[in-house]
Amino acid sequence: MKRRVLLTTAAAMAMCLGAGATLADTPPLAVKDSYRVGFAQMESNNPWRIAETKSFHDAAESCGWELIATDAAGSAAKQVADVDSMIAQGIDVLFLPPREEKPLIPAVMKAKAAGIPTFLVDRSVDSNVAQAGEHYVAFLGSDFVDQGRRVAEWLIENFEGDKGIIVELEGTTGSSPANDRRSGFDDRIAEDSRFEIVASQTGDFARDMGRQVMETLLQAHPDVNVVYAHNDEMAIGAIQALELAGRKPGEDVTIVSIDGTRDALQAIIDGKMGVTVESSPFFGPLACDVMKRYASGEEIPGWVKVEDRIFTIDNAADHIDEAY
Ligand code: AHR
Repeated sequence: MKRRVLLTTAAAMAMCLGAGATLADTPPLAVKDSYRVGFAQMESNNPWRIAETKSFHDAAESCGWELIATDAAGSAAKQVADVDSMIAQGIDVLFLPPREEKPLIPAVMKAKAAGIPTFLVDRSVDSNVAQAGEHYVAFLGSDFVDQGRRVAEWLIENFEGDKGIIVELEGTTGSSPANDRRSGFDDRIAEDSRFEIVASQTGDFARDMGRQVMETLLQAHPDVNVVYAHNDEMAIGAIQALELAGRKPGEDVTIVSIDGTRDALQAIIDGKMGVTVESSPFFGPLACDVMKRYASGEEIPGWVKVEDRIFTIDNAADHIDEAY
C-alpha cells in the first residue's frame, strides 16, 4: 500500500523539510495482532531516561508488542549499532530517540533502506539531511525552543534583582534539545537588558557533570545569581555545587530548568528552584496510538507535538506524586 505523510503545520514544515525537499512515501506497516517493535534508548543515566524506557515496556504490555529494547550507554556509535542489530532481528517498526542530531542519521537511513517505518521520539535529527515523511515517518516530541522561551519568560516576570548574571548549563552537545533550548532561552532573554549570560557550557544532561561544571564556573563567575539548566538533573547538580560553596539557591541564586522530575518539584517546594517547564518522558502510549493509526492508513503529521505544562511553587505540590 502506498502512503503519504502530511506535514500540516508551518512549524513542522520548518523543522522537517530541508530546502527543496519533497514529501515521499515511507515504508508501510501491515495491520497485525502483534508487532516486533524496536526501541533503541541512548542511555539510562537519569530518571527521565529510565521513565521513558519504562513507558515503552508498559506500552509493550498494553499494546501487545514484542519489544526489543537496547541501551546505548551514552554512545551514538552504539546506538547506530543497536539499530543495525534490530534490523537484523526483523523488527516491524523502530522508535528511536537519537542522542545527537547528526551521528544518528545513518541509523535512520538504514531503517528506511530496510523498509522499516521509523518514528523519532523525544529528540530529532538534522532536518537538512533527514526529513519526516521521507526518511522517517514522524517526530513525536516537545517543542524544545518553546520550552527554553517559557523558562526565559518566567525569569523575566519573576526575577526581582536589578541585574541577572546568568550561567547556562547546556545539554549534550549536538543534541536537538540542547540546540533548541539554548536558542529559545537566549533569544528571549536577550530582549531584556537586565540579563547577561556570562557563561554557557555543557553538563551533558547529567547531574554529576552539572555539579562539576557549576563548581568550575563559580570560580570564574562568583557573582552569578541565575542558573539556567537545560534539564533538571543538571539543575540539581548545580544546587549541590552552590550549597557547597556557601550560596543559598532560591535566595541569592535563582535556579530555572526543564523536565519536571520529582527531585525538581521537591526543590521547588523547598524553595530552592523557581521553575521547571515540563518535558514529558511518557511516550509509550503515544507511540502505540500513532503506530496503530499509521498501520491503518491514517495520515500522520510530520511532527506529533507533545504539549508541556509548567511547574512552579503554585502547583508543584499538586503534581509531585505523579512525578518520576
Ligand atoms: O531529550 C530530552 C532530554 O533528554 C531531557 O530533558 C533530559 O533529561 C534527557 O536526558
